[in-house]
Amino acid sequence: MILELSSIRKRFGGVHALRDGSLSVRPGQVHALIGENGAGKSTLVKIVAGMLRRDGGDMRWKGRSVDFHRSAEAHAVGIRMVHQESLLAPHLTVAENVFLGREPLKSAFLDEAAMAHKTASILEEHRFPLQADWKVAKLAPAHKQIVEICRALHGDPSLLMFDEPTSSLSDAEATEVFRIVRQLREKGIGIVYITHRLAELQEIADQITILRDGETVHSCPASETTTQEIVRHMVGRNVAAVYFRDKQPPGEERLKVDLPGVAFELRAGEILGVAGLVGAGRTKVCETLFGITPAPPGSISVNGEPCDIRSPLDAVEAGIALVTEDRQETGLAVRLPVRTNITLANLDAVCAGSVVHSGRERRVAEDYRKRLQIRADATEQSARQLSGGNQQKVVIAKWLFRDTNVVLFDEPTRGIDVGAKAEVFALMDKMAREGKAILMVSSELPELLQVADRILVMREGSMVAELPRETTQQEIMHHAAVGH
Ligand SMILES: Nc1ncnc2c1ncn2[C@@H]1O[C@H](COP(=O)(O)OP(=O)(O)OP(=O)(O)O)[C@@H](O)[C@H]1O
Ligand SMILES: [Mg+2]
Repeated sequence: MILELSSIRKRFGGVHALRDGSLSVRPGQVHALIGENGAGKSTLVKIVAGMLRRDGGDMRWKGRSVDFHRSAEAHAVGIRMVHQESLLAPHLTVAENVFLGREPLKSAFLDEAAMAHKTASILEEHRFPLQADWKVAKLAPAHKQIVEICRALHGDPSLLMFDEPTSSLSDAEATEVFRIVRQLREKGIGIVYITHRLAELQEIADQITILRDGETVHSCPASETTTQEIVRHMVGRNVAAVYFRDKQPPGEERLKVDLPGVAFELRAGEILGVAGLVGAGRTKVCETLFGITPAPPGSISVNGEPCDIRSPLDAVEAGIALVTEDRQETGLAVRLPVRTNITLANLDAVCAGSVVHSGRERRVAEDYRKRLQIRADATEQSARQLSGGNQQKVVIAKWLFRDTNVVLFDEPTRGIDVGAKAEVFALMDKMAREGKAILMVSSELPELLQVADRILVMREGSMVAELPRETTQQEIMHHAAVGH
């Protein structure tokens, strides 16, 4: 074993993030770390990476007991975290990003040649499809992830830890990351891999460890288990892995969009899926409809009325909500408590006169917390302190409570665990039954096929196909890649 954790404990105030976390990683092993939102996965790897200190339990690195006070100490012994949220500087080159914060100097000047040379050798050694002098801003998301991996590989680490590396990638791009992970495994590097995409496990993992409520409840070789069994260990009960939605007759027109390259209509009771590779322009459609990006010449109407949407406020007034994929930047007021985040888009409903009625606000928040199983220490906790998946649930709760006619979901289940996914789909179905119209952008094709009534496929900023729900993943991918 290179890494052995046993009975790790960590508390944040009243929250027991970890009660009994155990994990043992061998060299050359891909070890998947699985669990519901808030189970303690990120906390455990942050302790290994020296970003957090444990309260108790034993941590051994290559047989020696260790206690890292800073991430530099973990880095020095060969432990690396490959970050999930991109920390790259977009205007710099691949090489400059690989060396960001630890640039070699040559008599007080940056040694550009050394950086380029070393980066080129890492790229070559691992057969990564990038050049050292490419600008990061122009790279596709999967390639940005590769730059993060290169950063981590500098200095020949023995352990790489990935926290949801594929959550923002499409299936095709995730395949590229898998290829790289396998290559790293062959070089004898130990890998810890956190994911909510359970379908990936059989493809990538050697060993699976499952955390529930801060405790390691199960660990076994990937070949000896099934998705169903994993889910049972994760949530402590049986959950249907496949969600099925009955189709309904669509009602009156809710949204009609006629913009260059993008024209469709959406009716009450409908869930319209939008597929495409990352970067195909799906998010831009949502941002245009929600007034974040200026609309190109064309028309948008809501409930048959033409609308001039120039800001999110215009969109909300017209009856459009956006559940964004980018919860940190646009979805949440991270410093405010969960209850305020949930009621923020519909303050009128919790105000008595012009002041917020805090009892009413708390009741609403508590109701949504239960319905979406948001794991938070009461509703007083600030949104910043929640685990990634729980933050996403708060964003969804906010728009459910706002009660608009048209709801745009951009990657609604990103980072959300299986149990809550079913819950989110059930809520979307309920909204549709209540007469709302839903647009759902997703890179998870199986989910689109389960939930959507029709699927639009986008490629390079334009819609290239509209497919019925009976279509297949292969057909969607064909249109997304080829364009006709
Ligand atoms: N800085 C913090 N302050 C307070 N509570 C925290 C903090 N960081 C994490 N927590 C809490 O610790 C628990 C475990 O969080 P963690 O981020 O490890 O979960 P996770 O398994 O990574 O979940 P997800 O799948 O949603 O990313 C959660 O209840 C979370 O709210
Ligand atoms: Mg996490």
